[in-house]
Amino acid sequence: MENRFKSVAVAAALKSGLFIKNSVGKSGKISHKGRDNIVTEIDKAAERMIIGAIVKAFPDHSILSEESRPIVGRSPYKWIIDPLDGTTNFAHQFPFFCVSIALEADGHVVLGVVYDPLRDELFYGESGKGAYLNNRKISVSKTDCLSESFLATGFSYGRTRKDRNVKHFKTLLMRSMAVRRAGSAALDLCYVACGRFDGFWEMYLHPWDSAAGALIVKEAKGTVTRFDGTPYLPYHKDILATNGFIHQKISAALKK
Ligand code: IPD
Ligand code: CA
Ligand code: CA
Repeated sequence: MENRFKSVAVAAALKSGLFIKNSVGKSGKISHKGRDNIVTEIDKAAERMIIGAIVKAFPDHSILSEESRPIVGRSPYKWIIDPLDGTTNFAHQFPFFCVSIALEADGHVVLGVVYDPLRDELFYGESGKGAYLNNRKISVSKTDCLSESFLATGFSYGRTRKDRNVKHFKTLLMRSMAVRRAGSAALDLCYVACGRFDGFWEMYLHPWDSAAGALIVKEAKGTVTRFDGTPYLPYHKDILATNGFIHQKISAALKK
């Protein structure tokens, strides 16, 4: 892996993250992409910063980013970007949001960077090289009992989609120690990677929500699959990411 991929991605995450942090309480115009799905001027400005840095460094790479049209380049590399994961939190000054940047090579995610600017926490994972939080190696928790597990989930935009996760939420709320819905899938995944959460599931995610975080969980020796236990790609809608020990039990609960 070229060292420059990492340095460009980390620099873009830190710079856009600082900008987002300095914009808390000043989100500017808020537009609706759907009934409950909003985007702020800050999402778009942070995205321009990240895409600008990547296009400058790697002009022939492809880019898939939440708020822009995809850029299709000739190289086998594709950047998958969520400039602000947790927009609803950000717009309400609820302190849980991040920048998420992943790099895919020939269809495989090889690098993931997730930056939480409020806590100055930089999560990083590289295929085959482990996962790190502010340069310290991280790994998933060792909890092997579902009733002692601390879990997280998220609810997609759209009333019908939200409703579809309610039954899973109820099942796992009753069978675990607790379930959180903090509002940033990328950070939820990183919290599984560093052992704060024992597991996370969500339906209807987009590649930019999960690409970086899912790699970081795998590199932290966690398990990431679809609900039914089959291999997960960022283009799948359902994701189950755990420490591995409780994976089978949650997968079985999600099938019901
Ligand atoms: C959302 C967050 C949220 C998840 C939603 C995502 P956004 O991303 O990750 O936690 O539940 O499914 O769409 O819109 O804040 O980038
Ligand atoms: Ca997102
Ligand atoms: Ca976003």
